[in-house]
Amino acid sequence: MSVQDNFRLAMRRYVYSVSIMSNKDVSGNLNAITVSSVTSISMEPPSLLVCINKNSRIHDSLVLESEFCINLLSKEQENLSNVCSDEEKYDQRFDDKNWNHEGVPYLQNAQSNIFCKIDKLTSYHTHTVVIGTVLDSMFKDNIATLTYVDGKYE
Ligand SMILES: Cc1cc2nc3c(=O)[nH]c(=O)nc-3n(C[C@H](O)[C@H](O)[C@H](O)COP(=O)(O)O)c2cc1C
Repeated sequence: MSVQDNFRLAMRRYVYSVSIMSNKDVSGNLNAITVSSVTSISMEPPSLLVCINKNSRIHDSLVLESEFCINLLSKEQENLSNVCSDEEKYDQRFDDKNWNHEGVPYLQNAQSNIFCKIDKLTSYHTHTVVIGTVLDSMFKDNIATLTYVDGKYE
């Protein structure tokens, strides 16, 4: 097997938590994309990174100093994860009544919401590594995080 095939199969053994990254572009258009590549970086400053494919619709709206939210999904939000990772369901992404989009859009019933401002963008081949400093976070008391392993939700 190729290096890529082995790498893919090795990565399928990881258990990922599933989030939706959301933002509003300079024209006020709403964007949302399902992501599993969220990793916290540091507490000083509070910061995280997320890797975004350059072909995704949200990509070009991710500019320095702009704000986004990472919405960690609960097990009940598998459908929303599917909608936000399906190009053909792009028009349905903000149908859910739990979105609040007065400012930076966020899901009111997510497990947690982490609001960030983009501090650094690093291009790496097909992806951009987006580094955000954390402005504010909210979370629910009960923990029931949507996870993804071996290509399936758990
Ligand atoms: C569980 C899961 C995790 C994903 N994680 C990422 C990710 O971290 N970064 C990324 O760019 N795409 C990721 N994707 C793929 C995008 O969600 C998908 O390609 C999406 O349709 C791209 O957005 P667009 O349709 O608005 O262009 C993931 C998809 C799934 C199902």
